[in-house]
Amino acid sequence: MRQFQHAIVRRPCRAMVDGITSAPELGKPIYELALEQHDAYIRALEQCGIEVSILDADEAFPDSCFIEDVAVLSKKCAVVTNPGAPSRNGEKRLIIDEIRKYYDEAAIHCIQTPGTLDGGDVMMVGDCFYVGESERTNTEGIRQFGSILAAYGYSCIAVPMEKMLHLKTGVNYLENNNLLAAGEFAQNPLFDRFQKVLVPEEEAYAANCVWINDTIIVPEGYPKVLAEIKKLGYRTVTVDVSEFRKLDGGLSCLSLRF
Ligand code: GLY
Repeated sequence: MRQFQHAIVRRPCRAMVDGITSAPELGKPIYELALEQHDAYIRALEQCGIEVSILDADEAFPDSCFIEDVAVLSKKCAVVTNPGAPSRNGEKRLIIDEIRKYYDEAAIHCIQTPGTLDGGDVMMVGDCFYVGESERTNTEGIRQFGSILAAYGYSCIAVPMEKMLHLKTGVNYLENNNLLAAGEFAQNPLFDRFQKVLVPEEEAYAANCVWINDTIIVPEGYPKVLAEIKKLGYRTVTVDVSEFRKLDGGLSCLSLRF
């Protein structure tokens, strides 16, 4: 089973209040509260036994705390993505120097235009990467990604998407063949090989949990999903991410783990 040693996070910037959202009815994020929640998120990552690298906030990019979207970091290689939202595309340039600390230049690859790819659309299951074909990630981006991965012996499975922002908005692998699945992914035959925990509609946000070294980080406020995960025998840590939810962001979006 894959173990993680590191995580990279980026501090939320004040401009996050103008980040992209599909849920304006939730209101604007409260910046000070977002910072407190981000602190708690970092503590939760550290509790999972990993070293966390904390990058400075960047006011030029309101959504840049959702650092998962700008890269995919695997054991053998790093892929800098080409984020599909125009206001976020420049975030890819902010991550390269950090990635160079951990990967040889030859193992760092970039998705090129016209391909687009958001890391939130990539779910790693051992040596296989499921990639959502979403409004942010296109067919060409998946083709390039698959071709990079193939050189390292990894495989790639494209997942057609209809509604959700990112693949991992609705489906997340918890290792040990366990998968959290909500909404459009609950009955998708591509995921039939897994033991699925079906996430009820009223707790759909909690489909985005993070497995790190046998601990599952679960968003606070979703008791049914938390109980199901505990039943599977995992240690759990809850973190309140209400201010990031207002920007369609979840737990996984807030870090790169490798
Ligand atoms: N607000 C996060 C995103 O749309 O990518």
